[in-house]
Amino acid sequence: MRFLDACACRPVDATPVWLMRQAGRYLPEYRAIRDKLSFIEMCKRPDVACEVTLQPLRRFELDAAIVFADILLPLEPMGIGFHFAPEGGPVIERPIRSGRDVKGVRAIDPRTELDYVMQTLRLVRREIDGKTPLIGFAGAPYTLASYVIEGGHTRDYAHVKTLMFDDPTTFDRLMELLAEVCAGYLLAQIEAGAQAVQLFDSWVGWLGPYDYERHVLPHVRYVVDQVRGHGAPVIYFANGASGMLDLVSRVGADVYGVDWRIGLDRAWEQLGADVAVQGNLDPLTLLGPPAAIEERVTDVLRRAGGRPGHVFNLGHGLVPQIDPDNVRYLVDAVHRLSAGARD
Ligand code: CP3
Repeated sequence: MRFLDACACRPVDATPVWLMRQAGRYLPEYRAIRDKLSFIEMCKRPDVACEVTLQPLRRFELDAAIVFADILLPLEPMGIGFHFAPEGGPVIERPIRSGRDVKGVRAIDPRTELDYVMQTLRLVRREIDGKTPLIGFAGAPYTLASYVIEGGHTRDYAHVKTLMFDDPTTFDRLMELLAEVCAGYLLAQIEAGAQAVQLFDSWVGWLGPYDYERHVLPHVRYVVDQVRGHGAPVIYFANGASGMLDLVSRVGADVYGVDWRIGLDRAWEQLGADVAVQGNLDPLTLLGPPAAIEERVTDVLRRAGGRPGHVFNLGHGLVPQIDPDNVRYLVDAVHRLSAGARD
């Protein structure tokens, strides 16, 4: 299968493509279900989560499926309650901001406490086995820590940085705990049928290289060390980190997700020729007309240069206002233009 071949830097007939947030509100068939159920209810019902995972695969020639779930799901069994506000953003009920708060957080057994995600993976795998590979995922420790410390979305990460600078021991203790949960959760997903796993580090771009190296890198490397070698490539997506890819590359992943703020050629150079890269079209390119999309897909493929080890993706997730016809155009253009380049 193209996607797994590219993750292992093996040659492919055309560049594989999947899209972060490929299941979601831009699809009318998603909204029809979402009108009746909350997002969390959808995640917790394996039949529904399976259906929603498959929706984009029915429309588009995608080369991978990603299980329908959320990076925040492990928080609830850890004792960190949250809900989604009516406007959409997550809200942590009691943010974690002290050593005492961290003591109240517990490690979990993902096989039982997130059993619904494992069931969804098994259901999806049964549906697409042998045709389309299935990706599992988790939030990386820093991104999860940002949510639990801030309590939700933030502009400046002031609470996270306050804890990191005032009480680094407590901050690192929280990171260790999250890394432990993250590794266990990804291993459980591989056992349940995930054929690749992606670690989303959506918010590391707000750190400078000093704090990334000191407070983030060791914990991500721990997760990657635990998870690699279990038959599923590990993808690490460090959003906004294109200025410190030399550090990012030290986590030891098989594949690196790259955001759109750097040319893929330059990113690959910094990550190393022996790893695979995933990316990196500006997600809002999908607002544009087909000609504008084609131009920019061509540019990403040119920078990848037909080298084995490129998985096409957006530089971050699809947004709800995108027209599904543009997504079809993108997916087909990636295959057409990359297959052509190899003739
Ligand atoms: O990619 C996929 O199709 C798989 C499903 C998936 C979701 N969230 C579904 C979702 C994945 C991989 C995620 C990851 C996720 N969740 C991340 C990392 C990726 C990124 O965007 O950086 C983060 C930061 C979250 C946390 C989260 N979940 C936020 C901030 C929000 C609210 C914002 C929004 O878009 O509504 C969510 C909710 C969420 N997760 C939705 C979906 C489809 C929307 C829920 C709805 O229908 O209202």
